[in-house]
Amino acid sequence: MSQPSVLFVCLGNICRSPLAEAALRAEAVAAGLAVTIDSAGTGGWHAGDPPDRRAIAEAARHGIDISGYRARQVRREDFRRFGHIYALDQQNLRDLKRIEPKGFMGRPLAGPNARLSLLMDLVPGREGTAVIDPYGGSEEDFAVTWADVTAAAQAIVSRLR
Ligand code: 4NP
Repeated sequence: MSQPSVLFVCLGNICRSPLAEAALRAEAVAAGLAVTIDSAGTGGWHAGDPPDRRAIAEAARHGIDISGYRARQVRREDFRRFGHIYALDQQNLRDLKRIEPKGFMGRPLAGPNARLSLLMDLVPGREGTAVIDPYGGSEEDFAVTWADVTAAAQAIVSRLR
């Protein structure tokens, strides 16, 4: 069986989803788990850009270098390539549902789609809540983002184990 694969999706792919990607990479390494991990944005305005400098700084505070990450826009093929797609907030989830491949005129899909869900649904007590967008906020908001995505990454690792 192929290894588990996880895609995190936010709006710009420069703040929240790169931090989620970094947090899960760190938790998976610590747990000795092999997982394919990537992140993307529902929007394409930042495609090719590195993460926001405040996201790079927050990851660096936790010993992780994300300066080499580059943003990309989510694609329909991602629903084929990944086993799980996690939306960082409800708007991201709605946008993903809109592009999710569906059967045509009653015909089933050629293969299974990724399982699509809201990221914080994985964290007990935080179901239905968003990872708040820190883009217009302060450095402290990025620390909150880190705490949220780390709690979710730990939940993913315990599910995969
Ligand atoms: P992200 O944050 O979705 O967590 O990457 C944002 C980044 C950029 C923009 C909005 C949110 N923007 O409007 O450019």
